Amino acid sequence: LTVEWDIEAAEKGGYPHFAIKEINEQPESLRRALLGRVHEGELRLPELEPLRVSGALENLRRIIVVACGSSYHAGLLAKYAIEKWTRIPVEAITASEFRYCEPIVGPDTLCIAVTQSGETLDTIVGIRQAREHGATVIAITNVVASAITRLSDAVLYLHAGPEICVVATKSFINSVAVLYQLGLYLGQLSGYIQPEQMREILSAFERLPEQIQSIMEHANSSDDVIAPLAQEMARAHSMMFIGRGVGFPTALEGALKLKEISYIHAEGFPAGELKHGSIALLDPETPLVAVATASHVYDKVVSNIQEVRARDAQVIVVATEGDEKIKQHAHDVLYVPATLEIFSPLLASIPLQLFAYHVAVARGCNVDQPRNLAKSVTVE
Ligand code: G6P
Repeated sequence: LTVEWDIEAAEKGGYPHFAIKEINEQPESLRRALLGRVHEGELRLPELEPLRVSGALENLRRIIVVACGSSYHAGLLAKYAIEKWTRIPVEAITASEFRYCEPIVGPDTLCIAVTQSGETLDTIVGIRQAREHGATVIAITNVVASAITRLSDAVLYLHAGPEICVVATKSFINSVAVLYQLGLYLGQLSGYIQPEQMREILSAFERLPEQIQSIMEHANSSDDVIAPLAQEMARAHSMMFIGRGVGFPTALEGALKLKEISYIHAEGFPAGELKHGSIALLDPETPLVAVATASHVYDKVVSNIQEVRARDAQVIVVATEGDEKIKQHAHDVLYVPATLEIFSPLLASIPLQLFAYHVAVARGCNVDQPRNLAKSVTVE
């Protein structure tokens, strides 16, 4: 008796692609990012203790996140979270621009390098420059002993496990989670976050893995609406993604996922900016995805969706479970569980990853290794 098998199929663990395997792994990989750091209302980042003791995290006047691609989108989300929890100004800059934009960096600056591979040359070169100007550098990466770790004062690992598919899924979610942990740590250190508020935030944080699990269970059941919708959308030539507040970087990441693996032209916009130009692109052939999860800007997003509907564009909305009202504004609704507004991108990104994946499969694309892309880009 001989058994036919190949090592790649074995590594995919029964899934047709690494992409969908890694999307499904997210509850577990996020749990690993929380392990030992967030537990029963307490936050611990022992990796940062030497910096705390040396005083390098005191009196910071500026925080800059330097990153590329999906890691940059994680950095954009970190701006909302870290500013909210510390009131220190935060800027996310794409690494390839950082080097040439004469950034204001000095000993009172914390630079956070986010690179899942730890080898992206644009990020490495930017961080070298920041160090030369005296900044403190914290690296957030998935790869132990990667190049970025040797250039940094401290390292926070993503603990996402190996990510084989070129596009970032679980490493993106964990990058957001670890950046948020860093923001909470700094907020705790400065005393800006009160203990009661911290407990509330951490308890929402701890619920996220099981909430992602529930999205996956629904997506893997016969009630799934994402795969059939993706099948229909696979004919589109162009798609738009909109959101406000933390929904905006979520929209950018949703658009990036779609263009990377399905080769459909996709662009993300702040929902309120649409009317200042890009709305000219809308027509019945250009579907639009709106991130409209529960938030303080929810009503504003809904009115932007109405503007879009008036142009006969097909609207897909990512919304919070229980929001029945949104159905009257959308052709299709992808629901995610309720959480704190600041955490909503960690849930809203999951249906957008699944959507991109199923569109790519329907179009017969090479999902795990899209054309022209590499897992780590070691040229400038
Ligand atoms: C490449 C990949 C992207 C990724 C980016 C940043 O361009 O195709 O998916 O987000 O690099 O990678 P990094 O390893 O620095 O996070």
